[in-house]
Amino acid sequence: MKISKFKADDLDDLMIFLDSNLEENYEKKVFLNIRQRWPEGFLIIKNTKKIIGVCCGAILANDKLRILILVLQEDYQGKGLGKQLMNLMIKESSIFGIKKVTLEVRKDSKAITFYRKLGFSSVDVLPCYYQDGCDGIVMEKQL
Ligand SMILES: CC(C)(COP(=O)(O)OP(=O)(O)OC[C@H]1O[C@@H](n2cnc3c(N)ncnc32)[C@H](O)[C@@H]1OP(=O)(O)O)[C@@H](O)C(=O)NCCC(=O)NCCS
Repeated sequence: MKISKFKADDLDDLMIFLDSNLEENYEKKVFLNIRQRWPEGFLIIKNTKKIIGVCCGAILANDKLRILILVLQEDYQGKGLGKQLMNLMIKESSIFGIKKVTLEVRKDSKAITFYRKLGFSSVDVLPCYYQDGCDGIVMEKQL
């Protein structure tokens, strides 16, 4: 398993991966924009040639890192890879003097427990935030 920076060549594989592993749908150009804004903050994990995990983020004003997507293929979950990706994102963002990490998660997601373990707390609720009407929970971690 290898963690690397997402490249434009990975785009088709990324779309296939996200289609099978995320409930939300995104357009291809979104990912090229995310990469253009902060290439070091777009990480993928490959097992040989196939993408099995993704984490991308954006640097916001007020010294904040916002995690946009963090997802592992189901059979690679629970092996420490999510934690590893998050730690690497925080490390990559340190050059910007980041003081806080923020993200949104579905209210019905098991990932809330994962983020709590990593030191995140729930700070807000976003009603009907997701495409299916599920509320979003805003979680933050102070660095
Ligand atoms: C949420 C997710 C990214 C976590 O990544 P992961 O690789 O499975 O998690 P890790 O193995 O790195 O776990 C890190 C810690 O969190 C805990 N943890 C992870 N998932 C958990 C869960 N569902 N319930 C309870 N604890 C959990 C682990 O036990 C581990 O604890 P430890 O450090 O004490 O051993 C991954 O499970 C996933 O992709 N889920 C589906 C997509 C999703 O919900 N993404 C988040 C949307 S915002």
